[in-house]
Amino acid sequence: MIQRLVKRALCALLGVACLALSASCETNNPEQQIETVRIGVATYRSDDTFITALCDDLERVSKQMESETGKKIILNIADGKNSQSNQNDQVDNFISRSYDVICVNMVDRTVAAVIIDKAKRADIPVVFFNREPVEEDIRMWDRAYYVGTDAKESGIMQGQIILNALKKDAGIDKNGDGKLQYVMLEGEQAHQDSLIRTEYSVKTITAGGVQMEKLANDTANWQRSLGTAKMTSWLDQFGDEIEVVLSNNDDMALGAIDALKAQDMLENGPVVVGVDGTLAALEAIQNGEMLGSVVNDAQLQAQAMLDIACALTEGSDPQQVVEGMNGQYVRAPHRIVTKENVGQEIAYLTQSE
Ligand code: BGC
Ligand code: CA
Repeated sequence: MIQRLVKRALCALLGVACLALSASCETNNPEQQIETVRIGVATYRSDDTFITALCDDLERVSKQMESETGKKIILNIADGKNSQSNQNDQVDNFISRSYDVICVNMVDRTVAAVIIDKAKRADIPVVFFNREPVEEDIRMWDRAYYVGTDAKESGIMQGQIILNALKKDAGIDKNGDGKLQYVMLEGEQAHQDSLIRTEYSVKTITAGGVQMEKLANDTANWQRSLGTAKMTSWLDQFGDEIEVVLSNNDDMALGAIDALKAQDMLENGPVVVGVDGTLAALEAIQNGEMLGSVVNDAQLQAQAMLDIACALTEGSDPQQVVEGMNGQYVRAPHRIVTKENVGQEIAYLTQSE
């Protein structure tokens, strides 16, 4: 009995002490007054060069926004390791921690409805990025958004790089048969950017009056080492017949250049174009190894994602306040980069480092 009383008294005392402590925290600790935005970011895999750049930009831009707005932005970036079930678990985890906003770079972009359902039930807005869900899924909820680019535009610009180069140097058609013999390095088969870049790069060149002859095409899954492997086997098969290498991204283009270098075929070899404008690609353009690329602006995309997140946590409608938003979509414009303007693009990319 006495023991129980002592216990109760102790508990009561402890309770009072706790209350006093928390009250003093509220009044004295400025940390409590700072508005905190917690964002969960689920990437399809973290070893993808473009996604790495985009995540670095998210970190950097969020720091900038912290100092501009006085808010605290907490980013939790998860690696899906190319498994949709991993990614679903990561999203569940963000939801169970009541994050303010969830950003998802779908492993399998055809199953976004599952994520939207979960987010909607928890009433946590979701921003998809880079791997575009079908429009029907985005339309399921007015607090689902997509930040990316217009894939068609990148394909068209890739084609324009070839057309412009051919005007200045007819020697790109090495055998002078009036056609461009080309190989196509494709990204993942199910990625919107692979299918559309492939289609529109070639369409643009032929619409410009230049005939194209495809020697080979295959996927190298966006990866540099797989790009090297593919290009090596095509060089064995076609030797110096290849006049143009069209690549759905820069990493695979750089892989093709690695293969050309290994066989001492870079000089007087085919012209190579990619997409992304990664730093490694810009350097290859600067030193003449690569003809050009199309900038896939990760900084703009990171900024748009964070603008949406901040608007949502302030209770405003992103569609009213976020720059470049069109309905539930933000598409960052692309830019052509070749030797002529590469210095400018390197400066843009490294300005903030
Ligand atoms: C980029 C690729 C990247 C892919 C990942 C594309 O938009 O161009 O470099 O691997 O997205 O989803
Ligand atoms: Ca030719």
